[in-house]
Amino acid sequence: MPRETILVVDDERLVRWSLQQKLEQWGYHVSLAEDGASALARVQLDNPDLITLDVKLPDMTGIEVLSELRGRGIHLPVIVITAFGVVDDAVRSLKLGAYDFIEKPINFEKLENSIRNALETRRLRNEFARTQEIRRSEFSVNRIIGVSRHIQEVRELVKKLAGSEVSTILIQGESGTGKDLVAHAIHYESARRDRPFFAINCAAIPESLMESELFGHEKGAFTDARSLKRGMFEMADGGTLFLDEVSEMNLGMQAKLLRVLEGQAFRRVGGVKNINVDVRVIAASNRNLEEAVRTSRFRQDLYFRLAIIPLMLLPLREHREDIPPLLEHFTQHYNEKFRKNIQGLTKEAEELLLNYDWPGNIRELKNAIERVMILAEGNRVAAKYLPIRISEGGTLPVPASGTSGNGTVMLPPGGTSLYEVERDLIRQALEQARGNKTMAARLLRITRDTLRYKVKKYRLD
Ligand SMILES: Nc1ncnc2c1ncn2[C@@H]1O[C@H](COP(=O)(O)OP(=O)(O)OP(=O)(O)O)[C@@H](O)[C@H]1O
Ligand SMILES: [Mg+2]
Repeated sequence: MPRETILVVDDERLVRWSLQQKLEQWGYHVSLAEDGASALARVQLDNPDLITLDVKLPDMTGIEVLSELRGRGIHLPVIVITAFGVVDDAVRSLKLGAYDFIEKPINFEKLENSIRNALETRRLRNEFARTQEIRRSEFSVNRIIGVSRHIQEVRELVKKLAGSEVSTILIQGESGTGKDLVAHAIHYESARRDRPFFAINCAAIPESLMESELFGHEKGAFTDARSLKRGMFEMADGGTLFLDEVSEMNLGMQAKLLRVLEGQAFRRVGGVKNINVDVRVIAASNRNLEEAVRTSRFRQDLYFRLAIIPLMLLPLREHREDIPPLLEHFTQHYNEKFRKNIQGLTKEAEELLLNYDWPGNIRELKNAIERVMILAEGNRVAAKYLPIRISEGGTLPVPASGTSGNGTVMLPPGGTSLYEVERDLIRQALEQARGNKTMAARLLRITRDTLRYKVKKYRLD
């Protein structure tokens, strides 16, 4: 790690000299200034990590230097050196955001500790700011990719909700449609972004632990409770709590959750003190909650409370126009990750992706791209690298006309020519698919090669 630089500001040469000796001994790099004006100049020139600032300077007071720095938006840790017993200066400098003050004559041990703490706080703060910045860009609303009307509306709603005071939000959608992504985006686009985002998967936590997980417990509340534990609600205060797979919560916990959502205080397990928090709850479910209400597995009142703001994410097969931009996005993503330079898919491979029905939604698409990008050579990915279920065509529902309930074609009482029927069905499939062989093959549940062969055989081209 490069040495940290400390700017020493003092008008007395002897004091500057002795501070410099000490600081260098402690391993810091030192720069010096003897008055306010040169201190401000050195801040620009030397970019110090901390300042020790004497209050009494020839051209201006240390307090003035401090307020000038703040005025310029410079928030370096400053340790103010005051005359013994001048409480007034100390108070004013702390008010201006000085990290600490030290009285003359300087107690070096105290100074060393103060400097170390200030720099450590600064390091932690910088680190937090950096990770926050990364998370903010990782989970910005712009990371929700898509050009369809649906995705555009999702992005709009995310922005609206993020900017609102709404305290509960419900996100529903099949697995892999982006519920996690959207919940994060709402948090990181909101004013709560610098407060915690905690996620808890209601399906993964045993019922017996759920209450203490959410609300915490006091020491000795039950056999294993050896120490006090704060629950998710308490720890997420000011932030967001993401309750994933909320449909899996048992009815007892649902009642407790409802009380908290209605703004009532809660208690830690075994506790007597009421605790109030300000937490935004985002619940998610890939099961149909209304259905769960109908079958009495989910409390209706809780459902209504959560569903004040419902956000429904559609299955990918209902917004296929987003497949190309998602494809492009994930290709770029894995190019960076795997240090490859793949341009995209072959026409044939892309067609397969466009026609597949994606039961695992965007996650399945993402995983498929990851897979082909690991396997593929050259700069265009060929269809043969796609997972077999995609390259063979999926299970796109076919309109049932002309078939009986169980999907078989009815044989007329007088019999028929199989040759004619097959030829006719293939012709129809080609028509329905507007000549797209991949799509036609899928409608007939056969491979493209088989279709090609039959097309030749029946001279349909
Ligand atoms: N619109 C989108 N744009 C870009 N990436 C997306 C989009 N939707 C989902 N993803 C990505 O797809 C993957 C699956 O999304 P996510 O985990 O949010 O789904 P989910 O709905 O929470 O699924 P589950 O119900 O299984 O928990 C993630 O890697 C996510 O980043
Ligand atoms: Mg999820």
